[in-house]
Amino acid sequence: MAITSNKMAMALATVLLAMLLVGNSSAQLSPNFYYTTCPKLLGIVRAGVQSAVAKEARMGASLLRLHFHDCFVNGCDGSILLEDTPTFTGEQTAAPNVRSVRGFDVIESIKKNVEKVCPGVVSCADILTLSARDSVVVLGGPSWVVKLGRRDSQTASFSDVVGAIPPPTSTLDSLIDRFNTKGLSPRDLVALSGAHTIGQAKCLFFKNRIYNETNIDESFAKERQRNCPVNGGDDNRAPLDFETPNLFDNYYYKNLLDQKALLRSDQVLHDGGSTDSLVELYSDDSDAFEADFVTAMIKMGNIEPLTGSQGEIRSVCSRPN
Ligand code: HEM
Ligand SMILES: *[C@@H]1O[C@H](CO)[C@@H](O)[C@H](O)[C@H]1NC(C)=O
Repeated sequence: MAITSNKMAMALATVLLAMLLVGNSSAQLSPNFYYTTCPKLLGIVRAGVQSAVAKEARMGASLLRLHFHDCFVNGCDGSILLEDTPTFTGEQTAAPNVRSVRGFDVIESIKKNVEKVCPGVVSCADILTLSARDSVVVLGGPSWVVKLGRRDSQTASFSDVVGAIPPPTSTLDSLIDRFNTKGLSPRDLVALSGAHTIGQAKCLFFKNRIYNETNIDESFAKERQRNCPVNGGDDNRAPLDFETPNLFDNYYYKNLLDQKALLRSDQVLHDGGSTDSLVELYSDDSDAFEADFVTAMIKMGNIEPLTGSQGEIRSVCSRPN
């Protein structure tokens, strides 16, 4: 008995030590972080997202993607929200983001409303994380508890964006690789790609696929070509899920089974490789999809946060204090 509890104490100490050494700062995040300092936070964010999505359903998709692009580039630290100045080039003009990520005004306006009731307390990184969750909920998807306490970066890295955000031309191996670098499994990759059940993509990003690829349904390709010509039209948009573009459901996966994915990086998830069975599972079982999506969103939202005295709480999201 004594030996057992000794062993258990040793094991516990080892775990604690390991957490200290790794600096597991997401362990410092907590759902109740603003419980006393900003009790109205969750309601303010939810109302802001609701009204933005009521004006334009696609905004829910844009906010979800903004959070993804924030977290993959040096962690969920609000760095993507920093605007360029004459002496500073941030992430917004990097190739995966420029003229593509959007929703900055919505985040800024929610932040303004939060500042009115609890000034200087809530980070832009947390507001963005909550907004991504609320976007999914408002568009009919699952909900989950968001841990809070992220702080805002004082800078951003233009040059880190391209290496971190996977391009739509990615192979399955490179997608798995990029997600693995962020501590996300192939299962997380397939579940998170289900975010493409909402929102739109530009012709530029799927042109090669609809004219040159063979793992695509012919009539679907023809249909997409009508608004995406070989020359020009690069900014013309098409829904990522042509069935239910404003509903957070599992039709994205059903489309993959029919070779009706818009992006190459979507279709590779079901193209004879190791992730086929997961796509089949999610296409058939929306509960399984939602459960794994939630697990993966929580993991993604906890990538390398700044906590404690790191970073700052910005007064406005577009520039450091
Ligand atoms: C797996 C690798 C991924 C690739 C290669 C990829 C690529 C893309 C591309 C090229 C677009 C179109 C952008 C445009 O035309 O402006 C897009 C849109 C979108 N992505 Fe992804 N994405 C990936 C993963 C994710 C993840 C993990 C999420 C969130 C969890 C996400 C959420 C979205 C959403 C919601 C949109 C629509 C945005 C809008 O309509 O404004 N994507 N993605
Ligand atoms: C199709 O592939 C060819 C050869 O790689 C390339 O030159 C061409 O630009 C592609 N077409 C489109 C529309 O992307």
